[in-house]
Amino acid sequence: MNARLDPPSGKLTLRQILAWSADRLDDAGVCFAQGTDNAHDEAVWLVLHALGERPDAPVSAPDRILSPDRIAGIVALLQARVAGTPTAYLTGKTWFCGHEIFVDRRVIVPRSPIAELIDARFQPWCDPNSVTRILDLCTGSGCIAIACALAFPEARVDACDISVDALDVARVNVQAHRLERRIRVLHSDLFTALRGEQYDLIVSNPPYVPSTVVDMLPAELQAEPRLALDGGEQGLDLVARMLHQAGQYIHSQGMLVVEIGDFKEGLLQRFPDGRFVWPQFARGGSGVFVMQASDLRFILFPA
Ligand SMILES: C[S@@+](CC[C@H](N)C(=O)[O-])C[C@H]1O[C@@H](n2cnc3c(N)ncnc32)[C@H](O)[C@@H]1O
Repeated sequence: MNARLDPPSGKLTLRQILAWSADRLDDAGVCFAQGTDNAHDEAVWLVLHALGERPDAPVSAPDRILSPDRIAGIVALLQARVAGTPTAYLTGKTWFCGHEIFVDRRVIVPRSPIAELIDARFQPWCDPNSVTRILDLCTGSGCIAIACALAFPEARVDACDISVDALDVARVNVQAHRLERRIRVLHSDLFTALRGEQYDLIVSNPPYVPSTVVDMLPAELQAEPRLALDGGEQGLDLVARMLHQAGQYIHSQGMLVVEIGDFKEGLLQRFPDGRFVWPQFARGGSGVFVMQASDLRFILFPA
């Protein structure tokens, strides 16, 4: 991952530099898991950012010749990327449910498949009209809280995290989207600061990777805060606490939505009576369960 890139020589068009950049990403064997799933899309993101253009818009004028200065800027960004820095940390932003989110090393790069459920306003699992209070537990950059607030314009949202650093990033994003009046950014170890609160919807992308697996992750994933990834020995420390405590903070008609990634098996072993529902994702991704508040009793009082 640390080889020095030789800058390309000669006059190059944007189209050629995009292809060259994608080849360098592939050659370096970088991991595509933080907002893209292939070298071309990641190259577009990096190259257009280096040119000061929007990476979420179609590539314009692909046959223009790029100046040597422009190419040097692109190579410098690529060099940092192949050395293991996530693209979103290099560009300082990403997109979640189509909304721009500022990110840096204090938070993980937003990529939860929960985005697709938010876009569907959690239908058919809940009646969106009954949702007035939402909790985003483990908010990180605040991406889920912000997307929920925008998808449910009448709802009030609490965005909680144990990391003071992450909460600073979340506040920047809440302000950027002018949502300060509807989103509260709160410091809390799971539910500890939420005594007496009741929500219609609790949404969470908690840390769920087993500690030993975190140690083996690719460099760009290890560049993210360990606190955001490490779910303890089996990966279930936070999720188990959440399942045991959520009932006190959710209305009887409410619903819990939690990402658990590839670690569904361990969850089912630990909670064999749990009534987990696993949505299918058209846009890719998996490992998110939905649980109705009324089914939390099967966690607390297994057969
Ligand atoms: C996987 S990240 C999710 C961030 C964001 N929701 C997203 O989807 O991009 C998990 C977050 O949980 C936070 N966290 C870890 N332990 C926590 C705890 N005990 N209570 C609250 N938040 C916690 C981390 O600081 C991190 O920001």
